[in-house]
Amino acid sequence: MILDVGSRSGRYAIHVEPGSAARSTINGLLDGAGLPRRRFLVSNPTVWRFHEQTFAGLTSEDPILIPDGERHKNLQTVGRIYDALIRAHADRACAIVAVGGGVLGDTAGFAAATFLRGVPVVQVPTTLLAQVDSSVGGKVGVNHALGKNLIGSFHPPALVVVDPTLLSTLPRREFRAGLYEVIKYGVIASRPLFDRVAASLPALFKREPDALMAIVTESCRIKASVVEQDERETGLRRTLNFGHTAGHALEAVTKYRRFRHGEAVGYGMLVAAEIAVARGTMPAADRDALAALVAKMGPLPAVADLSVAETLEAIAHDKKVVAGQLHYVLPTSIGTCEVVADVTKDEIAAALRSIGMNSA
Ligand SMILES: NC(=O)c1ccc[n+]([C@@H]2O[C@H](COP(=O)([O-])OP(=O)(O)OC[C@H]3O[C@@H](n4cnc5c(N)ncnc54)[C@H](O)[C@@H]3O)[C@@H](O)[C@H]2O)c1
Ligand SMILES: [Zn+2]
Repeated sequence: MILDVGSRSGRYAIHVEPGSAARSTINGLLDGAGLPRRRFLVSNPTVWRFHEQTFAGLTSEDPILIPDGERHKNLQTVGRIYDALIRAHADRACAIVAVGGGVLGDTAGFAAATFLRGVPVVQVPTTLLAQVDSSVGGKVGVNHALGKNLIGSFHPPALVVVDPTLLSTLPRREFRAGLYEVIKYGVIASRPLFDRVAASLPALFKREPDALMAIVTESCRIKASVVEQDERETGLRRTLNFGHTAGHALEAVTKYRRFRHGEAVGYGMLVAAEIAVARGTMPAADRDALAALVAKMGPLPAVADLSVAETLEAIAHDKKVVAGQLHYVLPTSIGTCEVVADVTKDEIAAALRSIGMNSA
């Protein structure tokens, strides 16, 4: 399955196929995309431990392994990538192949965007979140000590290679975290995708390639279509923030330690649905279907002890506040949504309480 995405710096392909990361296939894909012959693979020790066999022969250059973890998604790590490239005398005729989750892809992508004013990057996402979200769309960047993703750029990939079989080694919690983003796509844009996730959870948790292929392809198709129409997030791309307003706030008030990002989005989707139902803009039955699927996914970390006031404060500081206005993505049904700018603190507070937050 090949998806073709338009971006301001040209078109690129997303190959979604079990086995596409295997040496015999990926080298052909890289050549076919017209990438320079000198290719530097950037990965981390965790991914490398599981998948070195698959990727070792991809290039004769030494792999550039950077430390694993969100806390290393910073300019210091980007500096380590530059160091390795410069020591290897890399020039503009080289490409970076980023093999890893969203942290790795964002960091290596930012290094590619800035090294020698930009060299091509190929994204080879190895987490479900990266396969359905971060590898597509061209947003790259790192964190600053004072906030997440504050340093960044747009650097669309030259190619995205999505191999769902790479997910077989992903810890269950990471896999689940990615599934919440898939549910997000279902709610904002595709009732069939939502229903498919609900119907195939056992197969998905077993990482059955057919079940994975179906949801990964459909998610990539939705993400690609949205970013193609609104690369710089002035309108439609905002809908991808569904579940992320309260979600990001939950991550912030727990100092990014309690939730995986997707888990916080799981709650955030419920909060948005509650607001919509309270406003009468979404049928209660659709909210119930979402709540049932989120519950079926398994328990989420507790929120009962979190402060409603602090969470509201964190929402007010969100990047989605533009010129003092918070753009809130509200579902109007399973499969459709709208962006509204008049959600009040009281509405959000009521919704936060309804998902179980009971501390003032
Ligand atoms: N650029 C974008 O548009 C965009 C969109 C969404 C999220 N993001 C970013 O993505 C990051 C989160 O990404 P993530 O959820 O993939 O987390 P992650 O990159 O931290 O990966 C989670 C863990 O799984 C490990 N791992 C990766 N692949 C594996 C595999 N196949 N088998 C076993 N372990 C594996 C990783 O090394 C890591 O320890 C955040 O920094 C977020 O800001 C970016
Ligand atoms: Zn997200």
